[in-house]
Amino acid sequence: MEFSIKSGNPEKRRSACVVVGIFESRKPTLPAELLDKASSGFISDILRRGDMEGKAGSTLMLHSVPGTLCDRILLVGLGKEKEFREKEYLAAVRATFKALADTGAQDASLFLAELPVKKKDLAWKIRQAATIALDTGYRFDDFKSQKPTARRSLKKVTFGVERRNELALAEEALAQGIAIAEGMAIARTLGNMPPNIFHPSYLAEQARQLAQEFQLECDILERADMEALGMHSLLAVARGAVQPPKLIVLHYRGAKANSKPVVLVGKGVTFDTGGISLKPAADMDEMKFDMCGAAGVLGTLKAVARMQLPINLTVLVPATENMPDGNATRPGDIVTSMSGQTIEILNTDAEGRLILCDALTYAERFSPDVVIDVATLTGACVVALGHIASGLFANKDNLARDLLDAGELAQDRAWHMPLWDDYQDLLKSGFADMGNIGGRWGGAITAACFLSRFTKAYDWAHLDVAGTAYRSGADKGATGRPVPLLAHYLLQRAGKLD
Ligand code: BES
Ligand code: MN
Ligand code: ZN
Repeated sequence: MEFSIKSGNPEKRRSACVVVGIFESRKPTLPAELLDKASSGFISDILRRGDMEGKAGSTLMLHSVPGTLCDRILLVGLGKEKEFREKEYLAAVRATFKALADTGAQDASLFLAELPVKKKDLAWKIRQAATIALDTGYRFDDFKSQKPTARRSLKKVTFGVERRNELALAEEALAQGIAIAEGMAIARTLGNMPPNIFHPSYLAEQARQLAQEFQLECDILERADMEALGMHSLLAVARGAVQPPKLIVLHYRGAKANSKPVVLVGKGVTFDTGGISLKPAADMDEMKFDMCGAAGVLGTLKAVARMQLPINLTVLVPATENMPDGNATRPGDIVTSMSGQTIEILNTDAEGRLILCDALTYAERFSPDVVIDVATLTGACVVALGHIASGLFANKDNLARDLLDAGELAQDRAWHMPLWDDYQDLLKSGFADMGNIGGRWGGAITAACFLSRFTKAYDWAHLDVAGTAYRSGADKGATGRPVPLLAHYLLQRAGKLD
């Protein structure tokens, strides 16, 4: 899809479809009024007849409206003007692209971005609209022999702005919105791939291609490298798998060499059977999504590289399968992590923390300014927060705050969870420095506590995306979260947001 920004009036726009908003009840926005005037009251006639009340999410397509230069006008209901806030704006944009997908219109001009949204600037409105336009068009049908025949004829989208002096700002926001959507799209596709094809070597190959596309430095550590580094916790998870594990390292350098990098670490379990602590059969297919942390950090990297942000960013992905096998790790096995701390593996299904802890120790060598790991780590986090918020843990409150703010701005929210020492006791082991599970209660927290023992050397945050990175049920699939949150955090750090 192609995008552009233009200033100018809607009635003079040559377009297959001009999109304007109507508030409840039957109150036209300024662009709708301009069209109404040009068409000698055509739109107010329709409103009067009651075909468009302005209810949130409703749409009405008008064809060949006299006095205008466009083929169609799409009226989009915005709900009550007094209640029109960010959520309502986003819903209107979503409704717009849904309605446009069902028409033959090849291009559309939207006049929604100038609507006042409390505390949100034009840049935010354009950025979000571009991301939504692309994300709602995302499809994954690589493995369907008969592709669905949806028309999807929309090729060009123009966002109308009122003043010419807003054009430059809007263009930058547009580029950001597109980059974030591209990052989400790759994260979704990586997540949706079937686990027979998508194993650690395939993931490493995808990372190499990303590196090639954006001229990033790329290092893939093999099993022998991990052995030399003493990553016996990561290796313990890989023992049962025929597919070899990989530790993927990517460097994006957008700032001076001495500027400390942000390091993102993504859990890359390409399939989680639970290992010897085997999971039940129901819904086990969804454990192909157990690499969505990896997908999220790679997607973020792509967005950052596309935006050419002036920051240094390193991405680490420990990748392995978690399989049962004669050679697999047993409950009761004790391993020494790269940090030197010993771990009694009491449950082989708590494998995410076992691969992350070694990657987090490895992160120290990059002298990070901050390290953020992303993982589909615990079912307990889904119990706590459902599918709305990601679980956020941090060893520095200001880092937590920045990430929460980024999530708010991106509409990809997280919720701050406690990391108090009181929970650490639950990880006690009679035989090793710690166990890898903390018992039945507070499972998302004890998992984070486990990771915190490996992140003392730097500022660190952990995002548990088990409930947010993918959807179950009829529209099963990866969501692309938390790419928007992380991209906004990095935009903020790069000084690109007001
Ligand atoms: N990948 C799972 C977590 C998960 C569960 C993600 C459900 C998405 C949906 C993780 O490896 C796991 O199995 N965690 C266990 C930990 C437990 C054994 C302490 C869990 O959450 O049950
Ligand atoms: Mn598991
Ligand atoms: Zn897992």
